[in-house]
Amino acid sequence: MKKILITGGAGFIGSHVVRLFVNKYPDYQIYNLDKLTYAGNLENLKDIQNKPNYHFVLGDITDDAFIQKLFEKEQFDGVIHLAAESHVDRSITNPNAFVFTNIIGTVNLLNAARAIWKEHPEGKRFYHVSTDEVYGALGQEGFFTEETCYDPHSPYSASKAGSDHFVRAYHDTYGLPVIISNCSNNYGPNQFPEKLIPLFINNIRHNKPLPVYGKGENVRDWLYVEDHAAAIDVIYHQGPDGETFNIGGHNEWKNIDLIKVLCKVMDKKLGREPGTSEKLITFVTDRAGHDLRYAIDSSKLQRELGWKPSLQFEEGLEKTVDWYLNNQQWLDNVTSGNYQKYYDEMYGNR
Ligand code: NAD
Ligand code: TYD
Repeated sequence: MKKILITGGAGFIGSHVVRLFVNKYPDYQIYNLDKLTYAGNLENLKDIQNKPNYHFVLGDITDDAFIQKLFEKEQFDGVIHLAAESHVDRSITNPNAFVFTNIIGTVNLLNAARAIWKEHPEGKRFYHVSTDEVYGALGQEGFFTEETCYDPHSPYSASKAGSDHFVRAYHDTYGLPVIISNCSNNYGPNQFPEKLIPLFINNIRHNKPLPVYGKGENVRDWLYVEDHAAAIDVIYHQGPDGETFNIGGHNEWKNIDLIKVLCKVMDKKLGREPGTSEKLITFVTDRAGHDLRYAIDSSKLQRELGWKPSLQFEEGLEKTVDWYLNNQQWLDNVTSGNYQKYYDEMYGNR
């Protein structure tokens, strides 16, 4: 029997990873540690909350005494670490929260894992989930590989880069059995509507403006969230210690092109005249330090561990839109209260 701690399991990607592990490995005990910040939502996991191999732990990874005690008590065999402050725009307005959670929180988990695995590190694993944003920005050509030098530009990506460096340092200095993956932009069900795709789905639904930063020419490489969770499963079980794997779907889209496709899908699903949603597009002041282009080379993962994305983007986008339209109560719940205040602060002055 294996005991695995998944951090940030109530968030977007974490909830898909928790669901996959709970359902696929009934002989594992899965512990979901989450602080339930604005981005954490236990509603994301209501289909598996009563499974006997699922356990929720409310807690903050920046609380080192609490983390130490939890590890001593539960003696986890593995950690899959996703808990983070994850939104670039929030990192621009409040960088400190990103330093605390993403860097100090990660170091607290590394210390706790090191303490309980010191005598017997064999068979143990600390899996750190990171982002392609640590590599910085590409021009029109080329891809990020595992050898690309780190060059983060936002407080978010700088904090993730810092945490990645600590994870590798604990491997090289203390022999901690770690593994890291760096993934491109995810989309799919349960993503908090501050990120591009769910924000725009929600705004189209309410006939609100679609705030496109700059000229909409920035490029992102989009991967369906369940394909990311499947990659994490493969890497967790088969990746060699100390390695890094890039995850991405070779699916680059200029923001404005993606938004136009999304508008077409929404018109169709909502039974609106073609072209109705596109009229909501509003060009606004560009994001500070806005990275031009991300594109991942995931050939190492495909070649060495046999993973590949399962969905074409058009199919994934339709599935995603269907999910948000069939779960409008979910959207309404997470867009009330605190979120509204944040939204006004973030977009009110544009
Ligand atoms: P998210 O913001 O949806 O979820 C983060 C989760 O972490 C939430 O449930 C939140 O409550 C929890 N959390 C935050 N601070 C915490 C703390 N101090 N203690 C305990 N829990 C805390 O994020 P996401 O988009 O699901 O991203 C998950 C991970 O994947 C992050 O590490 C992120 O950097 C990485 N990642 C995200 C993407 C993407 O496109 N979203 C792409 C690549 C990598
Ligand atoms: P986002 O979903 O925030 O992901 P990231 O910044 O981590 O890539 O943004 C995706 C792209 O969409 C990015 O280039 C910024 C842009 N964007 C907008 O144009 N308007 C918006 O309101 C948001 C949230 C993002």
